Amino acid sequence: MQSFKFRGFFVTQNSNTSIETKPKRILSGMRSTGNLHLGHYKGVLENWLKLQETENCFFFAADWHALTTHYATPEIVKETIWGMLTDWLAVGIDPDKSTLFIQSEVPEHAELHLLFSFMTPLSWLERVPTYKDQIEQLKEKDLGTYGFLGYPLLQSADILIYRADAVPVGEDQVPHIELTREVARRFNHLYRQGKPPLFPEPQSLLMPASKLPGLDGRKMSKSYNNTIELSETWKVTEKKIKQMPTDPARMLRTDAGTPEKCPVWDFHKVYSTEEERQWVQEGCTTAGIGCVDCKGCLLSHLKDELEPIRERRADIASRPDDLRDIIKVGNERARLEASRTMEKVRKTLKMDYRV
Ligand code: TRP
Ligand code: SF4
Repeated sequence: MQSFKFRGFFVTQNSNTSIETKPKRILSGMRSTGNLHLGHYKGVLENWLKLQETENCFFFAADWHALTTHYATPEIVKETIWGMLTDWLAVGIDPDKSTLFIQSEVPEHAELHLLFSFMTPLSWLERVPTYKDQIEQLKEKDLGTYGFLGYPLLQSADILIYRADAVPVGEDQVPHIELTREVARRFNHLYRQGKPPLFPEPQSLLMPASKLPGLDGRKMSKSYNNTIELSETWKVTEKKIKQMPTDPARMLRTDAGTPEKCPVWDFHKVYSTEEERQWVQEGCTTAGIGCVDCKGCLLSHLKDELEPIRERRADIASRPDDLRDIIKVGNERARLEASRTMEKVRKTLKMDYRV
């Protein structure tokens, strides 16, 4: 397995296909199960923004994948999907540069998933590390379902149907891209002997994990109730920061503290300048500044970042028909691409007996 850098991302691959300068087809999806927060922005969307400048990007709302875990509460998907798409545009994902669509609007994904399911050994799916992990972690949901086992195979269909070159993913998703390559190889081997392969093996573009923790210092996550949502008001954000826990040694304003023991410091590491960080270090360890001053500096950076996003968000939310049109166009573009691939797949599987 080799690993190298491509436009600032670590690329992992196991074949020696070269990655040149011509735009790559990039595909990525996001499940719609809740409101997006700063962790999504810093960990995923900032990477998408970079990629859309130079590559040919397809980004989609993975509503079917959301249903694999939320099949008992489909209203959650309905309630969150348009908000998520609104957030994408608000942070700058640009429909003139990228194709934005909804997975279930391209039913060809499901057809390809079905055809793949015939030739994919069960053991390949059972050994995917996220499978047992998630069943264990989400014990309150019964994930011993057929569809949940097939989750990564549906993802393979999402990727291969666009014959994507590369997929930006977090580390936990790398095994899914690995599986996708195996599926592509198996399909090409079974049906394309002596012919050019139908599916390229996609590479994973490993996105560095977000350095921004949640308000309590743990990973930012809806289930920990420690998030800053992109759609909340500035008032709410301000209140959350003011209530953020700090180094418990700083009981009184006159008690000195240690930034490394404080989640506010992790935020400074992401947002503040070198001088500001020196000011925090100096002021915190000598009780020269109070936590209120320290948080004030952070608040002004957060405001600079969030205000324009929230202004754009309000504008987009006030014109729901325009957003629908954008997604309609994206759905159609995606569907055209997907149907081209499916024609080739059906032909390869000798399904030309159809009328
Ligand atoms: N499984 C991905 C996640 O949880 C979401 C996803 C679905 C995806 N299909 C995809 C990501 C295809 C990349 C490519 O984040
Ligand atoms: Fe945390 Fe800043 Fe207070 Fe130090 S001064 S404890 S870094 S909030």
